[in-house]
Amino acid sequence: MQIIQTIAQLKSLLNANKTIGFVPTMGALHEGHLSLVSFAKSNNDITVVSIFVNPTQFNNHEDFQNYPQTLKSDLDKLSLHNVDIVFTPTEKEMYPEPDTRVFDFGTLDKMMEGKHRPGHFNGVAQIVSKLLAIVEPDKAYFGEKDFQQLTIIKQLVRQLNLPVHIMSCPTIREPDGLAMSSRNMRLSPSQRKNAALISQTLFKSQKLVKSFDVEKLKNWIIDNINKNPDLNVEYFEIVDDKELIPISSWDEPKNRIGCIAVNVGKIRLIDNIRYIL
Ligand code: PAJ
Repeated sequence: MQIIQTIAQLKSLLNANKTIGFVPTMGALHEGHLSLVSFAKSNNDITVVSIFVNPTQFNNHEDFQNYPQTLKSDLDKLSLHNVDIVFTPTEKEMYPEPDTRVFDFGTLDKMMEGKHRPGHFNGVAQIVSKLLAIVEPDKAYFGEKDFQQLTIIKQLVRQLNLPVHIMSCPTIREPDGLAMSSRNMRLSPSQRKNAALISQTLFKSQKLVKSFDVEKLKNWIIDNINKNPDLNVEYFEIVDDKELIPISSWDEPKNRIGCIAVNVGKIRLIDNIRYIL
C-alpha cells in the first residue's frame, strides 16, 4: 500500500490501462467506509482511498476542530484491506488558492442538510470535483447513509460531464441498528446507548405506513425520539429519492425516503429509511 501526499506523485502512480475504483473519505474509518473499500476492491484493478478532512464543507468551526483524526489506525485498516493507494493531501495541496466556485443544485440542496448546514454541499462539491479530477476514477463509491450527499454528487457529475460512475452502497449499521459514523466515537456511553433509538424508531415506522398518513407518521417519529432526553430531532422529512422534494401523501407515485438529523448532546447524527407501501 502506497501512502501519497501530493497530486504529482499520485498521478505518476496511476496507470491509464487499469480501472480505478475511488473511495473519498474524511478518515476515522469504520466498517461503513470499509464496505465501500470492499466494493471498490472487487470491481476495479486499482483502489484509491483519500483521507482529507475538508474544511470548506464544515459550516461550524467547532465541528471541524473536533472532527476525529485517527490516521495511524485508518492506515492499518486500509492496509488490511489491501488498498493500493491512500491519498492524504494537505490543505495547501487541495486548496492552493481559495475555491470560489458556487454550485447550483436546484431543489437538491435546499432542504434537510442543505437547509440546516448552509454552504455544506457547496464545500462537498468543491472537494469531490477536485478529487475526481485528480484521481480520474472509473467508479467512485459513496454511502447511502449520506443520501442527500449521494444525490448531489450524482448531479454534480452530470453537471460537469465527469466520466465516472457513481456507485451507491448500502448503510452499514452497528448491531443495535445505529448507522455507523465517524461521529459515533464522540458519544458518551449513555448517549451511545440512547442513539440506538433513532434507527429503531425509523425501522418501527416502516410498519406504520399503512395506518398513519405522512404527517402523522412524521410527528410520531419526532415525538418518539424526542421523548429521550439525550436526543433532539433537528429535522425529519419524507422526500422522493430523485428531486428530494417532501411528499405529503402516500398516494404520490414516488420512491420515498425518510431522512433525519438528530442532535445527541453536541453530536449531530443523520440516518434515513425507505418506505415501501
Ligand atoms: P465521510 O463521512 O468520511 O464518509 C465517506 C463515505 O463513507 C461517504 O460516501 C459516506 O456516505 C460513507 N459512509 C459513511 N458512513 C457509512 C455507513 N454507515 N455505511 C455506508 N457508507 C457510509 O462523506 C464524507 O466523508 C465527505 O463528505 C466526502 C464525500 C469524503 C467529501 O469530503
